[in-house]
Amino acid sequence: MASKKSSTRTSPMAAGASLLLFLLPLAISAASPSSDAEVISRFQEYLRIDTAQPAPDYAAAVAFLRGQADAAGLEASTLELVAGKPLLLLRWPGRRPSLPSVLLNSHTDVVPSEPHKWEHPPFSAALDEASGRIYARGSQDMKCVGMQYLEAIRRLRSAGFIPDRDIYLTFVPDEEIGGHDGVEAFVKSTEFKEMNVGLVLDEGLPSLGEEYRVFYGERSPWWLTIKAKGAPGHGAKLYDGSAMENLMKSVEAIRKFRTSQFDLVKSGAKAEGDVVSVNFAYLKAGTPTPTGFVMNLQPSEAEIGLDIRLPPGVHIEAMERRLAEEWAPSSRNLTFEFKQKASVLDKFGKPAVTPADSSNSWWPLLEEAVKRAGGKLGKPEIFPASTDARYFREIGLPAFGFSPMANTPILLHDHNEFLSKDEYLKGIGIYESIIRTLATLKDSNVDEESRAEL
Ligand SMILES: *[C@@H]1O[C@H](CO)[C@@H](O)[C@H](O)[C@H]1NC(C)=O
Ligand SMILES: [Zn+2]
Repeated sequence: MASKKSSTRTSPMAAGASLLLFLLPLAISAASPSSDAEVISRFQEYLRIDTAQPAPDYAAAVAFLRGQADAAGLEASTLELVAGKPLLLLRWPGRRPSLPSVLLNSHTDVVPSEPHKWEHPPFSAALDEASGRIYARGSQDMKCVGMQYLEAIRRLRSAGFIPDRDIYLTFVPDEEIGGHDGVEAFVKSTEFKEMNVGLVLDEGLPSLGEEYRVFYGERSPWWLTIKAKGAPGHGAKLYDGSAMENLMKSVEAIRKFRTSQFDLVKSGAKAEGDVVSVNFAYLKAGTPTPTGFVMNLQPSEAEIGLDIRLPPGVHIEAMERRLAEEWAPSSRNLTFEFKQKASVLDKFGKPAVTPADSSNSWWPLLEEAVKRAGGKLGKPEIFPASTDARYFREIGLPAFGFSPMANTPILLHDHNEFLSKDEYLKGIGIYESIIRTLATLKDSNVDEESRAEL
C-alpha cells in the first residue's frame, strides 16, 4: 500500500495541467484518482482496527488515519485532551481562512460485539463477493463516514479543487460511551474556538429506500430509577401497600403511556424521533437465596430503571408532572432519581435544533449538493438516540446528522453490521459534492449569519 501510494502521488497531472499552472504548489501534491479496489481496501484497513469499547485501540486508529491524512495532503495534529484518548484534528486550509469553517466529524470508537453471533468476524472486514457487502463492526457506525470524508478530499484535490473556507476533520474518541472525554471536552478547548466553525456534519442513519436520511436534532435521554418501599408480608396474604404493588401500578401507567406513544409511530402519525420513548432497562426486586429467590415473601423494596428519550419540542413541565404524580408519587411510597437528565434546550435556552429550511443558509447548500451528486435527502428528522452532534448544537452551532447509506438496513450496534461496497463508493461522490459546495463561497449571507450565531 505505502509504495503504491507514493508512486501515484508523484504521477504527473496530464489533463488540465496548464490551467493549474498558477496553483502549481498544490497541483504538484495532488494525487491521481485511486481505483475502487484501492479505496475499498483502505476502508477495510480502518475497519480492521479493533476500536471496540471498553478498550479501543485509539493509538492504532490515529496512526492509520494520520497516514491517510498525509496521503490526502491535510495538516494533522493530535489533541490529547484526556490522557490515552487522542482526538485527531485535520485541516484543509482554504483560500480565505477568516471565513467560518466547516467541520466534518466522525468517531473512531465502535460498540462491542458478540463475535460468535456474526457470520464473519467483526474485525475481519470480510467482503462477500456475491453480495458486495463488507461486514464489520463500524461499517455503518461510523468508520464509513470518516473514510468517505478523506476519500472525497483526495478526489477533490486530484481534481485541483481548492476550498474557499477551511475544512476541518475530527476523528474523536468515546462517542459510544457518551463523548465526555471526546467532543464534550473538545468544544470547550481553545483549539476548537480558534477553528471558527460555522457548520458541523456528523453521523446519521441508513435508509432502506433511495433517499438519504438527514437529522437536524436529537432526542434527549432521561435515565431514571424509581424505588418503591412497602410493608413486607407473607406471600399468601392479599394486602395493600406492598413495594411490588406500589411499583406495579407505576409499571402499568408507564406501559400505557409507552403504548400511546408507540401507536403514534405505528399509525404513521409521528416519526420515531418525534415521540417520547420509554423502555424498561431493568427490574430489581425479590429476596435472593443461593439458588434463586424466596417464594413466599413479598419484599419490602422494589426498583425499576427507565430509559426515556424526549424530542426537542416536548413539554418538559408536563413530563415532570407525569413523573411526580403518576409514575413515582410519594403518596405511593415511591421515590425517583435521575441517572442522566439531558436538557432539550441549548445554552441560550432555545430548543437545540438546527433549522432545516431556508432560514438556515447552509441547508439549501446541503440539499443542492446531494442532489447534484445524484442523491436525494428525505424529510429532515429528529435522531431517535444520541450522537456527538448534541454538543455542537448545545453551544448554538448548526449541525446535521448525515451518513450517506441508502438501500441499507439499520444494523448499527447489531450483529453482522455491513455496508455494501457500492453504497460506500456512492457516498464518497456525495461527500465530494457536499464538500465542494460547502467550501465554496457563494452566498455571503451564510457567513454573516454564522458569525452572528457565534
Ligand atoms: C407508605 O408507607 C407508610 C409508612 O410505612 C404507610 O403507613 C402507608 O400505608 C404507605 N402507603 C402506601 C400507599 O403504601
Ligand atoms: Zn455512531
